Amino acid sequence: MSKEIVLSGIRSTGNLHLGNYFGALRNFVRMQDDYDCNFFIADLHALTTNPDPKQLHANVKHIVAEYLAAGIDPEKSALFIQSDVPEIPELYLLLNMHVGIGELMRTASFKHKARQALGIAKPGESEETATTGEDDEAFEKQIIGAETNKRVNAGLLTYPTLMAVDILIQKATKVPVGKDQEQHLELTRRFARRFNSFYGVDFFPEPYNFNFGAAAVKVPGLDGSGKMGKSEGNCIYLVDDPKTLRKKVMRAVTDEGPKEPNQPVSQPIENLLSLLALCNKPELEQQFRDAYADCSIRYGDLKKALAEELVTITTPIRDRINDILADEDYLRRAVKMGADKARARASETLKQAREIMGIRRF
Ligand code: TRP
Repeated sequence: MSKEIVLSGIRSTGNLHLGNYFGALRNFVRMQDDYDCNFFIADLHALTTNPDPKQLHANVKHIVAEYLAAGIDPEKSALFIQSDVPEIPELYLLLNMHVGIGELMRTASFKHKARQALGIAKPGESEETATTGEDDEAFEKQIIGAETNKRVNAGLLTYPTLMAVDILIQKATKVPVGKDQEQHLELTRRFARRFNSFYGVDFFPEPYNFNFGAAAVKVPGLDGSGKMGKSEGNCIYLVDDPKTLRKKVMRAVTDEGPKEPNQPVSQPIENLLSLLALCNKPELEQQFRDAYADCSIRYGDLKKALAEELVTITTPIRDRINDILADEDYLRRAVKMGADKARARASETLKQAREIMGIRRF
């Protein structure tokens, strides 16, 4: 039986942090034997926020090295760069003919990014929480009335079409993504159904989020509040050297400590404990939970222990990242192999989609 197709992409907007590693990458590595795995760097998606060209290229290269260093095996999985698959932009054009600008404008991620572009993002709003609804009309006016130097680019609007194509062109059914991408997956299913029913075909399968058995892990940041995220500025990066890493952990937000025995663990401390849990140290975690419960906990000790575990996990990865970055040849071969695999399936899907739509060669 052929393996089910897993696909996930990451925008090349910066170095990978522990949220990417524990929340995604580590799981991807484990999936490689059981699924037909496809992992790619979404550099075309990154263009929607107009990055500096040199920076964009450097970021793409860095993420490839990080994926390889973390254990993605280019012989097992297709590891590729989105822009190496020209079939994607072509199918994107075709699929856009069945996508409504209204539904795109109502997408939470678009609302958020558009407001950011216009400089009117609401405080605390994120891709996931940006709401649609009563302010739709004002929102449209703001976009249409925007001066050209503060425009909301069309690529931002059609971001979900491009993402849907990434998935559908590989006929992937299992798409491991974070919660903030659920709405994009929902749209992907809708576009797939719409295409199938418009042309009376059973062509695109519907994709679903996929956690590979494990419950979705939430990787908290070091600022005592929400999840680790680049825009939150609360990250530990895979490439952070031990000194930087220790410093960041030692500066993590805590509180005054438990005042009475057997109190529920406070949020900032719970965050540090769950990071420890992600390091597969249940006994250490328990030890600090017990100490919290009897009020003997010393946060300095907790931080030191956590920092050392994180150093142990990241050091070999960081060493490999640097080795791989120095080996242009290996990098080139790895992504070439990935692109060849990805293009084989993409070109087949594109050929059939063109046929279905009536774009035929004489
Ligand atoms: N939008 C995703 C993100 O920001 C990245 C992405 C692009 C993606 N294309 C995809 C994820 C296809 C999964 C499948 O995280």
